[in-house]
Amino acid sequence: MDRTEKIWLNGKLVNWEDAKVHVLAHALNYGTGVFEGIRVYQTPKGPAVFRLKDHVRRLVDGCKMMGFKLEFDGKEYTEKDVFEAIKDTVRANGTAVDYVKPCIFLSGEEVGLNPVNVPVSFAITCVHMGAYLGKGADAGAKLITSSWQRPDNLCGPAGAKVNGAYVASTLAKREAVSQGANEAVMLNSVGHVAECTGENIFIYRHGKIMTPQTAEAILEGITRNSVIQVARDMGYTVEETQISRFQLVSADEVWMTGTAAEIAPVTSVDGRPIGDGKIGKVSQAIHARFHDVVTGKVPEYDAWLDYVN
Ligand SMILES: Cc1ncc(COP(=O)(O)O)c(C=O)c1O
Repeated sequence: MDRTEKIWLNGKLVNWEDAKVHVLAHALNYGTGVFEGIRVYQTPKGPAVFRLKDHVRRLVDGCKMMGFKLEFDGKEYTEKDVFEAIKDTVRANGTAVDYVKPCIFLSGEEVGLNPVNVPVSFAITCVHMGAYLGKGADAGAKLITSSWQRPDNLCGPAGAKVNGAYVASTLAKREAVSQGANEAVMLNSVGHVAECTGENIFIYRHGKIMTPQTAEAILEGITRNSVIQVARDMGYTVEETQISRFQLVSADEVWMTGTAAEIAPVTSVDGRPIGDGKIGKVSQAIHARFHDVVTGKVPEYDAWLDYVN
């Protein structure tokens, strides 16, 4: 990741090094924050934020779940204000920006779990991320099955990006990296395939595309939703269903979807090759189409792009 110049903090653009919180900030100690990850793409009409309204909606829904009031420096923020603040921050940081990370969190200094009346802050950071899974994953990612479970809806709101809930993902990611893999797939509390540490998962098996349904304790990924729509428009059958480990390993193709990872084909799971161990034709075709969509080359999907200028 490469840093940028300005961070939006509670209504003002400040220099990167001046965006600070106290060591006793509630969010730092107890994980009480909600965040988003959003991509910015270069298009013929200039930089565009991909599905910004949907990301803002998920962020605001997460804050509602956590009981955070969207009031920063005396101003109440609507979804439209959040949307504009994100675009302002992208605009302020130049054309190298490809990823935005808004985070709304309890910044008040507090010892103790009670979150009620702890002051809330809102930071919007832009970076240049590049390839999230590293260059080695371009030829196909290696997955392991994590020994850590995807936290379900009894452990917290699985559909929201709550900072503290990501500890399980970081443990799983460490497991993957320490075994020489690029990513880890996490099973849910009943042993079904749920998703990866920061990506949803798709398989192509017996002529159709399948992905875990939202009731499987997954994050309702915006890339997942986009890929379902694009794949159906391309004529593929897509089923949102339950997926077993057996179905995953015996699939003809597997790929991950996420804002950071975009569409990432998988060529092995736990050392077993997927299909012939090479990137498959279906994921390749969807990847190519998705790339055209996000870079503004397909007019039918123009409503998914919010142009910055
Ligand atoms: C746990 C998890 N699953 C899936 C995803 C993919 O979601 P999206 O496509 O909205 O980025 C993410 C990334 O935000 C994630 O953190």
